[in-house]
Amino acid sequence: MTKNIAIIRGDGIGPEIIAEAIAVLDKVAEKFGHTFNYKEAPMGGEAIDKFDDPLPQSSLDTCLASDSVLLSAVGGPKWDSVAKEKRPERGLLRLRAGMGLYANVRPATLFDELRDASPLKPSIVDKGIDFVVVRELIGGAYFGEHKTEQRDGEDYASDIMGYSEHEIERIAHVAFQTAQKRRKAVCSVDKANVLDSSKLWRRVVTKVAESYPDVILSHMYVDNCAMQLVRNPAQFDVIVTENLFGDILSDEASMITGSIGMIPSSSLGKGSCGLYEPIHGSAPDIAGTNAANPIGMILSAAMMLRYSFDMPEEADSIEKAVDAVLKAGYRTGDTMSAGKTQLGCHETGKAICDNI
Ligand code: IPM
Ligand code: MG
Repeated sequence: MTKNIAIIRGDGIGPEIIAEAIAVLDKVAEKFGHTFNYKEAPMGGEAIDKFDDPLPQSSLDTCLASDSVLLSAVGGPKWDSVAKEKRPERGLLRLRAGMGLYANVRPATLFDELRDASPLKPSIVDKGIDFVVVRELIGGAYFGEHKTEQRDGEDYASDIMGYSEHEIERIAHVAFQTAQKRRKAVCSVDKANVLDSSKLWRRVVTKVAESYPDVILSHMYVDNCAMQLVRNPAQFDVIVTENLFGDILSDEASMITGSIGMIPSSSLGKGSCGLYEPIHGSAPDIAGTNAANPIGMILSAAMMLRYSFDMPEEADSIEKAVDAVLKAGYRTGDTMSAGKTQLGCHETGKAICDNI
């Protein structure tokens, strides 16, 4: 098969880790007889520097015309002082909206080999951590009206968190269908004791659940969920929640697995063209030092093969190679522990390629 992949090289450690993901994809292409064509679509800081725009139209067009988009991470202190509309994050939000990517899936999996890296007690970790956060990605406070104005002689700012029924319905379907392929339990997270948007959320999710009698639905307030994630994460299979809650809970979820550098994500909309990125940031402090962990990026490429290109065997080959490298005792700095062998970003990518 031939697939066209848009590449957003990103900022900070972005170019280093995405180079390793491309090397892995090339290895897969060679082994399974595919052709992957890559086209760069500058976004974020790189695009601000080159085009004075965090998402130039030409980049959005490249992404829309591709079979899928691979993104590393954008942003950094260099662009901290640019105007709000020009910030690297704006590029990412416009890309998500422009591609209609309403469903963001972030797995939280504890790699057996990395048990020691979790900050949770062994008695909690030993019960296992294996759930996914399904985060609504193009609604809520991120995309509601933002306003800063004068009120009673002082600054006043507001961000509207709004959801319409169809926006909740479509993300709920994704959550239930994801659960059907897993342990068949959805926990819908909201703040229905306070927020109207959450009351609607709960009502619509409950209605959608009727079409999935094989899946068990529960509801949880977001504050309780934040607590349950560190108290007993083994209780979760699929968490579905709105944009801002999902942003916060997915960071917490990744941290309890002890390896934010290892977690991939997918963002999908109506079609099969998705956006795949590791959930970590651009880590400008270690950029250019070959110290980054490329595994979250490489596993994002594997997710792309599985979910957008329908290439499960190819995806398996990458995931197995990552496991093999970890089992052999190789680690990047972020997951390093006594008795293991530390590798750089490039050497880790190469070791994974060699295992495919
Ligand atoms: C994420 C990030 C983004 C978000 C930022 C960079 C806008 O935190 O992907 O979780 O808040 O969605
Ligand atoms: Mg975030």
